[in-house]
Amino acid sequence: MNDLDYSRPIEIGDGVFWVGFNDIESGLHCNPFLIIDGDEAILIDGGSRPDFPQVMMKILKTGIAPKSIVGLIYQHYDPDLCGSLPNLEDLISSPELKIYSTYENHMFIRHYSSASQIVNIRTIDCIFKFKSGRKLRFIQTPFAHAAGSFVTFDEKSGILFTSDLFGSLNKDWQLYQEVGDRCLESNNETACHSNSAECPLTGIYAFHRMNFPSRSVLEYAMQTIENVDFAMIAPQHGSLLDRKTGRAIMHKLASLTGVGIERYLKKQ
Ligand SMILES: [Fe+2]
Ligand SMILES: [Fe+2]
Repeated sequence: MNDLDYSRPIEIGDGVFWVGFNDIESGLHCNPFLIIDGDEAILIDGGSRPDFPQVMMKILKTGIAPKSIVGLIYQHYDPDLCGSLPNLEDLISSPELKIYSTYENHMFIRHYSSASQIVNIRTIDCIFKFKSGRKLRFIQTPFAHAAGSFVTFDEKSGILFTSDLFGSLNKDWQLYQEVGDRCLESNNETACHSNSAECPLTGIYAFHRMNFPSRSVLEYAMQTIENVDFAMIAPQHGSLLDRKTGRAIMHKLASLTGVGIERYLKKQ
């Protein structure tokens, strides 16, 4: 897994491609994902404006024509995933292009662009269906970390796209992150019994403590996805996590302390 060519799109599941890049300058890797199904494609959390040339190059290297992208899913509205929306619209150049998100996110997404049709996922029963019948299921995770945040489950590949949930701050990045049993068995406060600088959980905890508003929000989000039978977690930042690692981290995040406002309340 560690000899992957990050200059190419990488197929991580059935028709699912990682179309990000190895951003060696930043500790915050952004991971857009493209799902290709027949002659249709969907882009999830497309990326920032500066990332656009590299992301678009990867999309084209999958062999699809930009016009076959029928939908852009934005699981929340931050610039690191929505910034390139106008560039994508220009290149896709299709009146049929739709943006899928929640009402709360659309309030802000419309400030990036007002060209495409906007679909509130609640009006389509939180399901996107390709022509083939393949389904993407949207699962709402309110306030994690935006009011209208949600995650997306691709039933065919078993991949759960989680946006900022399960994200990580990590300069020593790999697309596939292996987390040893020793790290997974450690408690939340110390991250790891071994050297915490080398423990992948350190970056995951730091990212969630910094970017999520409170422990209860994380706990609710983790309870919401508990029953999703995922094979892989694909976050917008950090690395892909296999089922076992994803489930272990899910339980850790559900009880993570010192998240968001709690760090400030403690100081008072
Ligand atoms: Fe975010
Ligand atoms: Fe993000």
